[in-house]
Amino acid sequence: MELSEALEKRRSIRKFRDKAIPREIVMEIIKAGTMAPSASNRQHWQFIVVDKESMKERMVKQAGAQKQIMDAPCLIVVLYDATFNEEHYANIQSVSAAVQNILLRTCELGLGACWLAGFGKEEEVSKLLGVPNHLKPLCIIMLGESAENPPLPPKKDIRDIVHFNEFQNGKGAPSLPIKLRSSEYTLSEIREHQKFLSRSSYFGKDYEIYSEEEVNKITSLVQSYLPKKRGHILSVFSYDGTLLRPLSSALTGHHLIDLELSREAAIFVNAKTTKMDFFVSDAYLPLKSSSIDMILFLFSLEKVPILKNQTIFSEAKRALKPEGKLIIFCKNKLSFYGLFYQGIEKLLKINRIEDAFLSSGPFEPVSTLKIKKLLKKISFSIQLRSLFFFPMELTVYKERLNGYLKRHGRNLSILKHISRPALSLLSLLAKATKKINLPLISSSTCIIAEKISSGD
Ligand SMILES: Cc1cc2nc3c(=O)[nH]c(=O)nc-3n(C[C@H](O)[C@H](O)[C@H](O)COP(=O)(O)O)c2cc1C
Repeated sequence: MELSEALEKRRSIRKFRDKAIPREIVMEIIKAGTMAPSASNRQHWQFIVVDKESMKERMVKQAGAQKQIMDAPCLIVVLYDATFNEEHYANIQSVSAAVQNILLRTCELGLGACWLAGFGKEEEVSKLLGVPNHLKPLCIIMLGESAENPPLPPKKDIRDIVHFNEFQNGKGAPSLPIKLRSSEYTLSEIREHQKFLSRSSYFGKDYEIYSEEEVNKITSLVQSYLPKKRGHILSVFSYDGTLLRPLSSALTGHHLIDLELSREAAIFVNAKTTKMDFFVSDAYLPLKSSSIDMILFLFSLEKVPILKNQTIFSEAKRALKPEGKLIIFCKNKLSFYGLFYQGIEKLLKINRIEDAFLSSGPFEPVSTLKIKKLLKKISFSIQLRSLFFFPMELTVYKERLNGYLKRHGRNLSILKHISRPALSLLSLLAKATKKINLPLISSSTCIIAEKISSGD
């Protein structure tokens, strides 16, 4: 394989066949790593090959390494010499060059690999693997026979990133806010966020997690309001398409349209659901008046700061046919879930998006009261509020929180004591909402509003 071919073909592989990689091959791959340049030829690298299931398990459970390492038959834990003069991180630069060589050689051998910074807590990994004090883990490389063939992810335009002689202002990724809450972003910042961050990663990933029960509940709610004949259904800012994919197959026979804030988000969703038309716009819907039968907001108001005024709903009203339905699914800010969300944010002092690992982008539960008020103001008739709790979220929360505590937990032991009972309480409430329909104990709300013909 030519080098240029390997450079183009190498992809991060996260799904592997359940087949061991012979140690001689692993040694050959690491040898390619050591051909890399290193500052003063110090070769600041050491490698620990982990192919024992029990050790991988301990790395996940005790150190908080990403769970996906369990699926790789072989791991290479890459260590760097931390005692080397750290000016300009020359040691890290050198070892990173070795990692890239390893990835390229792996690709040349027809195998798959993925570079992981998500190895968990540094000290814990070092302790588990018996790493001497002068060395530190840099990353893990997952290695194995590939069981997937991901496409090339979006790449920045070369003209946006190369500067001749001096930095040319106006080029390159803008410096975006790092806040967690979507309301602290402008629409164009969210759009830039999608372009350069949240939608620049690999395709096909579902950032949101829903159980079958939840998907069925949402699908049947939507289906019960569908027009009898073939209708035009618009989904607004479906974001990564996690819900749109199962929904689109349930809506076969109707004309589906997806509106996204950025081209990148549209491409991302399109990779999952091809049977629909895509538009890119903002709160102004590029659609004819009275042309749409149903408009869906599938947990998108939490991610796009569009509730500052009523434009989006006025536009929805304009685009809907008389008696057309506006169906909004959203996370309820004024619920125990919402309070818990904000409490955790405050207690952990999470105010940078990186801290929360929200790779799907800024997020914030929304006030259903505010949505209702905005809808009433423009004379939508609100037909129904169905409330329910998403149990999956609790599982995700538990994992996130445990991971967070593992990484930063030394000074947060009180939190451990508070958060576990709080999560158990939420679990109980989740069960209760299956029986009781009360706003305070439901995490999610479905608002169904109808365009009143006479109000036009
Ligand atoms: C320093 C570094 C850290 C990374 N950490 C992770 C990680 O923790 N988990 C993961 O799934 N991928 C990780 N990746 C892989 C990137 O997500 C991937 O390289 C990127 O999405 C581009 O896709 P490609 O490698 O297929 O070109 C990492 C890559 C680099 C270079």
